[in-house]
Amino acid sequence: MLNKKTVDDINVKGKRVLVRCDFNVPLQEGKITDENRIVAALPTLKKLIADGGRLILCSHLGKPKGPDPSATLAPVAERLSQHLGKPVKFMDDDAVVSDAVRAAVGAMADGDVMLLQNTRFRKEEGKNEEAFSKDLASIADLYVNDAFGSAHRAHCSTVGVTNFVETSAVGYLMEKELKFLGNAVENPVRPFVAILGGAKVSDKIPVINNLLGKVDKLIIGGGMAYTFFAAQGYGVGTSLLEEDRIEFAKEMIAKAKEKGVELLLPIDTVVAKEFARDAEHKTVPSSAIEPGWMGLDIGEKTRELFTSALSDAKTVIWNGPMGVFEFPNFAKGTLALAQKLADLNATTIIGGGDSAAAVNQLGYGDKMTHISTGGGASLEFLEGKALPGVVAVQDK
Ligand code: 3PG
Repeated sequence: MLNKKTVDDINVKGKRVLVRCDFNVPLQEGKITDENRIVAALPTLKKLIADGGRLILCSHLGKPKGPDPSATLAPVAERLSQHLGKPVKFMDDDAVVSDAVRAAVGAMADGDVMLLQNTRFRKEEGKNEEAFSKDLASIADLYVNDAFGSAHRAHCSTVGVTNFVETSAVGYLMEKELKFLGNAVENPVRPFVAILGGAKVSDKIPVINNLLGKVDKLIIGGGMAYTFFAAQGYGVGTSLLEEDRIEFAKEMIAKAKEKGVELLLPIDTVVAKEFARDAEHKTVPSSAIEPGWMGLDIGEKTRELFTSALSDAKTVIWNGPMGVFEFPNFAKGTLALAQKLADLNATTIIGGGDSAAAVNQLGYGDKMTHISTGGGASLEFLEGKALPGVVAVQDK
């Protein structure tokens, strides 16, 4: 149970409410290509507007090291204003908080909305340094953190600022993310199955370790599976391989046995001559990948194995695609799992980042119980770590 103050516990009428959102959306030539994070922020914003708050929104975008016009939040202000059906005043100021911003905040009326410039334009942000935290707090009576995607970062706008405001609370998105991910991990309806994929074992080490103590079945596919193949003595050709993680993979295979967790690895693999959309490809047993071939997807027998292992699942967490889903020839594994999850009578939770993109791109987004807006944050949560952005918010 979340014991943090939420937006339902605060009175915002006539107050300046600084809301940290995660508007770190993908942009192509200045256009937003995926606005899920903007849409996910709307319930909190609408509630605070309806309650008469004066909303000062802030977020980072990309990884600029200081002011950088290509990382401006201007396109977000525009989309947000369309979604909210009211003007969102964009404060295009590289200092993020300045006298001009203070003056504009002073002139706000109840229900007004403003968006500050990218918090990473301030060098203090990533280091959680006091000066910027104080600047942010100086324009707010209350602080709301609804940026689940950034909750694993201890930055000024997610952590430092809470030291200088009287009241802090989490927003609805944060609450929802913590509820779904938290219930799944701590209190799952069983059988509980985790599916892990994606390129690297090294990114998922703590997740595998933590989940092996909680799940009934663990399915491993995607690029990280090849290190597990190597752990079983198979050749992997030119597939992704992290030699320094082979020992870890062996330990995890042993740990799964010891815990009575069914660990499922691909039994066949779609291999290609090169990493390319139309590369020559074929399906081979996972133990028979020849030199010069690279695994880019799970094979048909594995699709059957994995989907039937999911048939009785009541809770599923999925993080990381099964193959190179961006190339149709190598998307079948990821697609098969997305279809299976869509048909299950179970709580299905998709970790953010690539898995969310895959499920949405393949058209199954609205069939899942919950798609997390956090990539790194959802991973750290699944690792069992406390998220600094959540810890910093006041308890109820
Ligand atoms: C994300 O996209 O995972 C979050 O917005 C955090 O971004 P960051 O990795 O640049 O801190």
